[in-house]
Amino acid sequence: MSGIEQARKTAGDLEHSPGFGNEHTSEAVPGALPLGRNAPQRAPLGLYAEQLSGSAFTEPRARNRRSWLYRIRPSAAHPPFVRIGNGAVRGAPFTETVPDPNRLRWNPLPDPAPGTDFLAGLWTLGGNGDATRRTGMAVHLYHANTAMTDRVFSDADGELLIVPERGGLLIRTELGLLAARPGEVALIPRGLRFRVELLDETARGYVCENYGQPFTLPDLGPIGANGLANARDFLAPVAAYEDVERPVQVINKFCGNLWAATYDHSPLDVVAWHGSHVPYVYDLRRFNVIGSISYDHPDPSIFTVLTSPSDTPGLANADFVVFGPRWLVGENTFRPPYFHRNVMSEYMGLIEGAYDAKAAGEGGFVPGGGSLHNMMSAHGPDRDTFERASAAELKPQKIDDGLAFMFETRWPVTATAQAAGAAHLQRGYDDVWQGLERHFRP
Ligand SMILES: [Fe+2]
Repeated sequence: MSGIEQARKTAGDLEHSPGFGNEHTSEAVPGALPLGRNAPQRAPLGLYAEQLSGSAFTEPRARNRRSWLYRIRPSAAHPPFVRIGNGAVRGAPFTETVPDPNRLRWNPLPDPAPGTDFLAGLWTLGGNGDATRRTGMAVHLYHANTAMTDRVFSDADGELLIVPERGGLLIRTELGLLAARPGEVALIPRGLRFRVELLDETARGYVCENYGQPFTLPDLGPIGANGLANARDFLAPVAAYEDVERPVQVINKFCGNLWAATYDHSPLDVVAWHGSHVPYVYDLRRFNVIGSISYDHPDPSIFTVLTSPSDTPGLANADFVVFGPRWLVGENTFRPPYFHRNVMSEYMGLIEGAYDAKAAGEGGFVPGGGSLHNMMSAHGPDRDTFERASAAELKPQKIDDGLAFMFETRWPVTATAQAAGAAHLQRGYDDVWQGLERHFRP
């Protein structure tokens, strides 16, 4: 059986522990999880107890995240970490270029060289904030054609929200296995070790690296107790461990740089765990889309799946927003996204199909590509979309041919040098707003 076939079979048999922000418990071997205490004098089955913190010990209960891991060997048993090449990974602060007020758009990354795994294929587009201050975010893309073998990754700088666009991923984490295919997203919490195998010959997608407070579900206000992304649709893994005694390289992204240490065993050796600092997957097709049933349409914040709060109420360090299938029924309403200048900065990507404000196809906004509209840049529908929508007969209309998303952030995104100079950066993106005719008749 090939590696991909094996990974698909494994992905098809996965069990999950559902819920968002709750306390999960899981054990791969009955009796491995201690009851009534976290750190007994001798943990069951000869395991070591280890706590992994996702928040300061003293943060309020609603924000507090940690998990207790019961493992074959403690993570502390390792030789020194040494610097390795960063490849195409960059970290905050982003100082290779100056922030650009222009609207920028990229085609997809070119195909990777043979033998590129998820980590080797990680390519940073840009970001903001400062990883050492635990604030801001980064936009990465990835492309891969090979499973990670005998190496695992963890990110001390932030959590990783992985958005597959092409090809599925089997993600083996310390807490168990998850699969994420296009249309689903996976979140790896800060510091958790994982390795990525492929469910298809190639994989491609986007990553939001969140240096700030962990993503959480947005408050619902007058929407009520239900709606948008529902907590029970988030799926954490169940415990699964590797008992492997051979060299495994652990690569740690720490303050923007990659460091590596070779363990003499697999660190994915957690036999049981409980807690709230967990990875999860979410199917974007489960998102409960809410919109206007009279006139106008709400601001796109209504499409927020996850939000990383800042210390200012309502001001996100980063939001993850999805534009999925939905009905448009507004009366006497310009239905596509309106023209706007936003104090927040927007990176948009396309998972499949087309986006209702932009022409699709070659040279347009295409799956795997992305656009960056930084703070106060003027944008909105392109010329053709404006003309068509202004003349459209306003029947109820189903938008069901695309799945787009946005990483929205409080600060401008500064591009990396490789993104600002990329051959796949579209030249002439401004042209989509040329020719918007004068209609003024005083
Ligand atoms: Fe926008």
